Amino acid sequence: MMQDIRAYMRLVQEETERALRRYLPKHAPDTLQEAIAYSLFAGGKRLRPLFHFATLEALGAERSIGYPVVAALEMVHTYSLIHDDLPAMDNDDLRRGKPTNHKVFGEAVAILAGDALQAQAFFALSDLLSFPGLPPAKLLVLFQGFARAIGAEGMVGGQVLDLEAEGKNIELDALEHLHRLKTGSLIVFSVESAAILGGAKAKEHEALVRYARALGLAFQVQDDILDVIGDEKMLGKKTRQDDIQQKSTYPALIGLEEAQKFRDRLIEEAKQALDVLTEERQSIQILFAIADLVGTRES
Ligand code: IPE
Ligand code: IPE
Ligand code: MG
Ligand code: MG
Ligand code: MG
Repeated sequence: MMQDIRAYMRLVQEETERALRRYLPKHAPDTLQEAIAYSLFAGGKRLRPLFHFATLEALGAERSIGYPVVAALEMVHTYSLIHDDLPAMDNDDLRRGKPTNHKVFGEAVAILAGDALQAQAFFALSDLLSFPGLPPAKLLVLFQGFARAIGAEGMVGGQVLDLEAEGKNIELDALEHLHRLKTGSLIVFSVESAAILGGAKAKEHEALVRYARALGLAFQVQDDILDVIGDEKMLGKKTRQDDIQQKSTYPALIGLEEAQKFRDRLIEEAKQALDVLTEERQSIQILFAIADLVGTRES
């Protein structure tokens, strides 16, 4: 299965690149166009598209309907990384194996490239209008969910909590909350949007959200762990930065081993959530494989 998931990931990566090219701005000023493409095509794992496509397929839907969403997901994710790396935030020099956006294009253009990517994500998402048979009300629910996931009550809110927690001893509950916001909410949206588009029944929808909530948190716990024990070359970003920045992370708060145990429990929880689907749905193996991947990934 791990072999299969690698092949599936490559397919997702190819299709995501295609989707991104389709919805890229075409007439932006040259510098902005360049700065956007620099980060967008620097070779991210495309994990959020992986979640989206795999969920669609588990529900028996076509991947093609997911193109607008996967482009939107990666545009917002990439914008969040460009801004996350700025001196005012995590002050990082290396991302996806290359100098960070602001190191190459300067802070002003990096900020604006992020801004543009966020807007472009909504443009990409709006192409769902071109799929016949999608009721407008469903589309509005998707837009609402996306805005909430990435804004003040989601990712951006989480980034603020992350910065405020620097150098502090925060409670475990507070750490979980900030991780769920800064990283979990976009991952949950990547699954939930597919549940909506794929016509999941209420029980399935609920199960998929439980699955995504567990993995969204596990993903950030593993990110924290990899900052301590990961390999810089594989990760394409510098390690040991959280310590230097005095970030509130799981290894910092409960120790490396406890963090690993917590991550593994979350992976199990995610898999258990899929029980509801196994009864009726065939192609959910890939969702199980993704759960294992989140727990064992080294990049
Ligand atoms: C890194 O995300 C930032 C976090 C939310 C932890 P990814 O590990 O998915 O980064 P890319 O897209 O593969 O570069
Ligand atoms: C990033 O978390 C979360 C978002 C960008 C929303 P981190 O700051 O831990 O991500 P890395 O380690 O720089 O990739
Ligand atoms: Mg950060
Ligand atoms: Mg960072
Ligand atoms: Mg990190």
